[in-house]
Amino acid sequence: MKVLVTGGCGYIGAHTIVDLINHGFDVVSVDSNIRSTTQLLDGIEKITGKKIHNYKVDLCNLEDTHAVFHENRDICGVIHFAALKTVPESVAEPLLYFHNNLTSLVNILKCIQEFKIPNFVFSSSCSVYGNTTALPVIEETPLGEAQSPYARTKQMGEQIIQDYSRVNNTQSILLRYFNPVGAHPSALIGELPLGKPDNLVPMITQTAIGKRPKMIVFGHDYDTRDGSCIRDYIHVMDIANAHTRALQFLLDKKNSSNCEIFNLGTGNGVTVLEAINAFEKISGVKLNYELGPRRPGDVIAIYANNSHAREKLGWEPKIGIEDMMRTAWQWEVSLRDKVLSN
Ligand code: NAD
Ligand code: WQD
Repeated sequence: MKVLVTGGCGYIGAHTIVDLINHGFDVVSVDSNIRSTTQLLDGIEKITGKKIHNYKVDLCNLEDTHAVFHENRDICGVIHFAALKTVPESVAEPLLYFHNNLTSLVNILKCIQEFKIPNFVFSSSCSVYGNTTALPVIEETPLGEAQSPYARTKQMGEQIIQDYSRVNNTQSILLRYFNPVGAHPSALIGELPLGKPDNLVPMITQTAIGKRPKMIVFGHDYDTRDGSCIRDYIHVMDIANAHTRALQFLLDKKNSSNCEIFNLGTGNGVTVLEAINAFEKISGVKLNYELGPRRPGDVIAIYANNSHAREKLGWEPKIGIEDMMRTAWQWEVSLRDKVLSN
């Protein structure tokens, strides 16, 4: 069975392709490489022995997107990762985010409708919950105000899919990821942030390897057990596996409504300082960090109730914080070794 993955050259898309192949699916990718290269496709081939075809197409272009669907009428579903995802960039350039993330989504849905593609899985985000204080968050927790245009594109994207699903036969799943981190255990694929990373784990590994002189812990006076913020870090291969299960769940017609929502987190809140400690423990590297001021827009704490995904998808996050850090570190080291050997 063939699946169309958008954003297959990106971080989560590439890891999901590996999991899909391991579970017997064929995959085609569509990625304009606006925020990636084809490097991760080479890694996928080394891991799985399968060469993935990528259509270098901007999904905001309906004609080109249509041509991809026309050539791949036999797909059993679409997993839609492609989006811009940098929160501060979205604050600076909201129209770029609304245009890219929403036009691409509407174009995909138009093609799904025309070609009668039965199944659709969408990358959503815990950022749809906004500044909630009801912890852990369940899927029914009312969505708070989006804290950035990026988060708003995810709220609006979810609404577009829900409205679409009411009047079409496509079965959809919205997956709300918490904080995906880590890399494939082979260290052949991982996160490749372009420029200075905003996210914690690439900032830790880049500082440890010497790409950055030091890092700042944003806030140490929050009302948490050590004063730093709490997040639900989840390994990217656990996230990847949830997509395979979500697709299989739809193929098996186990869904009870046309559009179901699942939180993807471990359910464990980890502070920034605990994450740093875990990194130092597994790497043996003393991280050069300073306790600094709070970062505007950060929520104090957020973590998931993941019972819905456990019960309905039979999914279970298997990888703990130390192995998240270990694989992220092995990936960073492999990137350095690649540069040194060239
Ligand atoms: P990524 O940037 O590594 O991958 C996204 C890919 O989409 C990139 O390769 C990019 O080139 C491609 N793309 C973007 N716009 C496109 C367009 N118009 N046409 C074709 N290709 C396009 O990001 P990721 O971390 O793999 O995230 C995947 C999805 O998961 C995104 O929708 C993101 O918003 C969502 N998400 C990510 C996180 C996270 O922390 N990484 C958390 C929650 C949700
Ligand atoms: C985690 C914690 C920071 C960097 C973002 C998006 C969200 C979702 C996941 C896509 C926070 C602290 C970070 C640093 C630090 N993405 N930190 N020093 O903000 O929870 O969520 O990624 O949907 O939408 O907003 O993740 O990794 O940026 O931060 O102290 O240099 O690490 O303050 O407490 P965040 P993050």
